[in-house]
Amino acid sequence: MNISVAILGATGYTGAELIRLVESHPHFEVAHLGAHSQSGKRAGEVLPGISGELASTLLAASDAPISDQVQLVFTALPHGAAAESVKNALDSGRKVIDLSADFRHKSHDTYKEAYGVEHPCPELFDEAVYGLTEFSRSDVADARLVANPGCYPTSTLLPLVPLLRNGVLDSEQIIVDSKSGTSGAGRSADRSLLYCEINEGLSAYGLPRHRHAWEMEEWANGFGQQSVSIRFVPHILPMSRGMLSTLHLSGERPETWHKILSQAFAHETFVNILPEGQLPSTQAVKGSNRCDIGVAVIGTKQAVVVSCIDNLLKGASGQALQNANVMFGFEEALGLSTTALWP
Ligand SMILES: NC(=O)c1ccc[n+]([C@@H]2O[C@H](COP(=O)([O-])OP(=O)(O)OC[C@H]3O[C@@H](n4cnc5c(N)ncnc54)[C@H](OP(=O)(O)O)[C@@H]3O)[C@@H](O)[C@H]2O)c1
Repeated sequence: MNISVAILGATGYTGAELIRLVESHPHFEVAHLGAHSQSGKRAGEVLPGISGELASTLLAASDAPISDQVQLVFTALPHGAAAESVKNALDSGRKVIDLSADFRHKSHDTYKEAYGVEHPCPELFDEAVYGLTEFSRSDVADARLVANPGCYPTSTLLPLVPLLRNGVLDSEQIIVDSKSGTSGAGRSADRSLLYCEINEGLSAYGLPRHRHAWEMEEWANGFGQQSVSIRFVPHILPMSRGMLSTLHLSGERPETWHKILSQAFAHETFVNILPEGQLPSTQAVKGSNRCDIGVAVIGTKQAVVVSCIDNLLKGASGQALQNANVMFGFEEALGLSTTALWP
């Protein structure tokens, strides 16, 4: 039996990626596409990547009623706008996977500090499961509401958590230097993302403290059972998709860290620890749900760990589908590829 799903925010980059994934999934099917400024148009007018029956689907307004058949709602909406839609979907008895940041924090104060706004329904914080699947799959399986992690936190926490759990890191000396393609900033018009502004350039942004720093610290603490301090500097560069995070780490016996990571992810489909001496690249994971991780020991107390994901897949819609598979009892990798679109 197929599970009908609604995608709210279907006209954005993560929404479009969800459509692509759900369309080729054997047990999920698209039953509702929601939009905001583009509502009332046919999906094919706004999304060049789709065709056939789906392209002629009318885009519903974000508050339009959703058919009773729909069991799962993906909210791929800006933070702040997502919370209300999440609450409505839960109130009508559906499961929700929220790709925004609205339910990634446990405390209202942290949310407010990171996002600068009041949250309309903080009473749902306790129920939300932070869906970094590799570390939370048993909670995801029982959840009504999954808060899908941010892309930068996904690329950072996957290598960081096993090292924290093994107690080998100096948790006050963590520097995360990340680079993202421009799809990470979404599809809305923004002058700083125009071709002429971004092409052939590289720039840092979000300082002194990008909002994902709170999320990284909260869940490094939550999963790694250690209070950490992370200095996080994101950069944007002229490629459509892809994310690379370089973790500058200090601690004990860095020569053992490759083994720690290899053992932690030995049975994981989507986390790939590269052989010693190899470092990852965004090209090698583009179009796949994989996170590739490489380790370079650079001293008796220090190492650099590099992690790569496709921000729209393991960093967003791919991980959302991975969580959906877990929530509905399907094989976790169903409909997701470990093979990149390469070259
Ligand atoms: N891009 C990434 O790599 C990435 C990774 C992880 C998480 N996320 C998170 O996922 C969410 C979606 O990101 P995105 O990159 O797909 O964004 P996006 O490309 O900007 O798309 C936003 C979507 O939300 C709709 N929308 C905009 N304002 C709205 C409002 N006030 N009420 C209801 N709907 C509204 C838009 O509809 P119209 O087009 O019709 O206006 C569009 O469908 C964001 O919260 C983002 O932080 C993104």
